[in-house]
Amino acid sequence: MNLEKCHNQSDLRKAAQKRLPSPIFNYIDGGSDDEWTLKRNTLAFDDYELLPRYLRDVDQVDLKTHVLGTTLDLPIFLSPTGMSRLFHHHREIAVARAAEKYGTLYSLSTLGTASIEEIAKVSSGPKMFQIYILKDRELTLEFTQRCKDSDYDVMCLTVDTALAGNRERDLVSGFTMPPRFSLASLWSFVTHPYWTMHLALNPDFELKNVAHRVDAIGKRGTVSLINYLNEQLDRTVTWDDAAWLAEQWGGPFVIKGLQTAEDAKRAVDAGASAIMISNHGGRQLESVPAPVDCIVPIREAVGDSLELIVDGGVRRGTHIIKALALGANACSTGRGYLYGLSAGGQKGVERALELYRSELLRDMALLGCTKISDINAEFIRKVAGN
Ligand code: GLV
Repeated sequence: MNLEKCHNQSDLRKAAQKRLPSPIFNYIDGGSDDEWTLKRNTLAFDDYELLPRYLRDVDQVDLKTHVLGTTLDLPIFLSPTGMSRLFHHHREIAVARAAEKYGTLYSLSTLGTASIEEIAKVSSGPKMFQIYILKDRELTLEFTQRCKDSDYDVMCLTVDTALAGNRERDLVSGFTMPPRFSLASLWSFVTHPYWTMHLALNPDFELKNVAHRVDAIGKRGTVSLINYLNEQLDRTVTWDDAAWLAEQWGGPFVIKGLQTAEDAKRAVDAGASAIMISNHGGRQLESVPAPVDCIVPIREAVGDSLELIVDGGVRRGTHIIKALALGANACSTGRGYLYGLSAGGQKGVERALELYRSELLRDMALLGCTKISDINAEFIRKVAGN
């Protein structure tokens, strides 16, 4: 796969599509219901335009960003996504290494195919763990302790998955984890030999963070693990539980999946230091706002008491600049690195990060900004008529 020929995220997406059997590609690429939210997440950035200022010295552009109690080399970091082994046999390890190389934060998902400890071993870069408040609170506490023991920097509580969204592409494609051949998908596996060969060579699809629990209750195998975790999703979780977890963790605490000013204020009260404004990449509730459109009302409601991360639809340097100009502290991306991972493992993630980086360096100079803190509301307005 010639990654140098991928000039933008859309090219990386096409490269991923070539490499992955279609059930796997569609699992990454798809959203819920009619995928309106999925599309809107990116399209909504087009409702804003940038207002450049010229004849400023823009010789040196610095992308350093202070967020989540740490300093990142980029104003974008990697969102938690489950089961990276599906997309490339180098799994989460490849992603964490690429993030460290680019000086940005890596987020490991509870549903990872690498463990908390494995990631800590391969990366000394900033790390966040994505957690759920599970029915078995002891398991949630166990993750918290393991993250402390492994020096994770940030804890991220996902709150928009009381139950799974309606992903119709997965129903059509027959997506399963671990991947299984069905009559309908067989051709797709046969015609993607690189991926399929590694299915046999590296069949390590285990959800490493919970494997020991399922062994303990006498069930084995990845299917049992996924069923176990689905059963563990607790629909009774409330703000009190979020406050409990923030206290247990005691460090930078992010709540992921909020969209309204009211919830953002509750996040402050619960002890969060940041929120990820996110609709889970359009994979959960359909017909909710694009994250970029939520920034202004949330910032007005919470002032400086909360850091705002915009997660959803970020595919361009200009998207990041727009989010920052509207009041976000940083952005994050899931698909924006999963396509790269699928196309080329660690090198593919690095290509994705390089594209964000080089676009930002160029776009900020053209805009007349040399530091992240230079970007403010004076550089943006709504497109007329919007
Ligand atoms: C998991 O969180 C997913 O969106 O598939």
